[in-house]
Amino acid sequence: MANDFISNPAILDGFTRFQSVAYILAALLFILALAGLSKQKSAKMGNNWGILGMIIALVATLSIGVVAYAHDPMLAIGLMIGAIVVGGAIGIFKAVRVKMTAMPELVAMLHSFVGAAAVLVGINSFLADPGNGTYDNAFHMGEVGLAVFIGAVTLTGSIVAWLKLSAKISGKPLTIPGRNAVNLVMVLACIAMIAWFVNTRGVEGGTVPLAVLTVVSLVLGAHLVLAIGGGDMPVVVSMLNSYSGWAAAMAGFTLGNDLLIITGSLVGSSGAFLSNIMCKGMNRSFVSVILGGFGGDAPKKGGAAEHDYGTHTEVTPAEVAELLRESKRVVVTPGYGMAVAQAQFPVADLTRKLIDMGVEVQFGIHPVAGRMPGHMNVLLAEAKVPYESVFEMDEINDEFGDVDVALVIGANDTVNPAAETEPDSPIAGMPVLRVWDAGKVIVSKRSMGNAGYAGVQNPLFFNDNTDMMLGDAKESVEAIIAAL
Ligand code: TAP
Repeated sequence: MANDFISNPAILDGFTRFQSVAYILAALLFILALAGLSKQKSAKMGNNWGILGMIIALVATLSIGVVAYAHDPMLAIGLMIGAIVVGGAIGIFKAVRVKMTAMPELVAMLHSFVGAAAVLVGINSFLADPGNGTYDNAFHMGEVGLAVFIGAVTLTGSIVAWLKLSAKISGKPLTIPGRNAVNLVMVLACIAMIAWFVNTRGVEGGTVPLAVLTVVSLVLGAHLVLAIGGGDMPVVVSMLNSYSGWAAAMAGFTLGNDLLIITGSLVGSSGAFLSNIMCKGMNRSFVSVILGGFGGDAPKKGGAAEHDYGTHTEVTPAEVAELLRESKRVVVTPGYGMAVAQAQFPVADLTRKLIDMGVEVQFGIHPVAGRMPGHMNVLLAEAKVPYESVFEMDEINDEFGDVDVALVIGANDTVNPAAETEPDSPIAGMPVLRVWDAGKVIVSKRSMGNAGYAGVQNPLFFNDNTDMMLGDAKESVEAIIAAL
């Protein structure tokens, strides 16, 4: 009964029209979502636009299934809802359990699914509509070839990134001799296979070039990421995010699905922009990251590490409480250590307490503080720090001269003056927060022995106006609150 109703031509036509309108609406909502997410103030709204767009897109996808499977639409709806429920349940299960610090590896794993989907869609699309020598078909075959190529590179690249980030394999770069030449040969082989594939006829003709293309692309993806050291992995994850977008866009071309083309392109281009921002924040060139060979497990000590900076002075949380109480303006610069210690909640409490006492408290966020883009912003938002008091590095960097106390919570490389003063330092040229210009600098870290991510000593710790508050950041900040 329900089948007869849905498969009525007029109803099916309605489904098709609904789908076109829904696609445009969803695409607009995704663009609004990206615009909203670009600012902390509008991020929640942006997220809501994205959720709404995704719901509309899912409903539209159900309607495509109904039209494509017109002889048994209820079966199509049942299968798709079943897939959404199973996939959604696994996604929710993983997402609620993941630790914030393990987010990059989860994201890497999810990218591999997009790559796998693009490969499977490409192969299926070829089997359903193999080469026939016509002009139109040649375009279709080219799209299939590109979808399989980008999808396969994304698939194995993301799996290797996940293995490295979760320390299941070594983070050291695999640097086989002539690796760039090997990569180039593989890329040229893939181009040749796509050219051959486009000119084949029938399933039999296209199977060999498609199979070779798939295998070479899979090896290329794994090799590209194996050559990149653990240090550069977060940039690689963002780059794979971009690839997964282009893979989805290619899958959209093969399926003739406009929404997939638009959303894939949005993901592809925003991932590329993000990779660029991260490279700038770390003073690395995008090409050097892609070509790999840098950033092993333990970054080499050098440059600043060789210098003798003298002795440091220590301070207790109770003394810091006294100092903060007497300050007019305090800027907190959080880093990876705040994430490790989960100190964002006491830091937020301390902020509220100081504001109540009439102290102006602001946050200065370095673009690559922590281990993933927006890491600190997410933590501070989680702890409900008002977004008006959170500033990007460029917004606040010239103002440290007017700041009474710069409170460095678990940050190291992002506040290292050696980046500006020591050309031989491994982080020379990296833009940093100029906390040393503040009247007083308090640094929270566990010990003087450990360096930051780049593995270099930080001369800031030995400055006359710097005091070290040694100990776990969460415990130290809680002790400051107690003393206040
Ligand atoms: P880092 O340079 O990594 O330094 C972290 C500091 O936190 C260390 O001084 C460490 O010293 C301290 N720490 C660790 N656990 C702590 C705890 N429980 N309590 C208090 N302190 C603790 O941090 P950063 O300044 O945020 O710099 C980030 C680095 O990561 C940069 O080099 C950046 O290039 C790199 N990176 C960032 C990204 C992104 S996208 N954000 C991606 C890849 C790489 P102790 O061990 O002595 O406590």
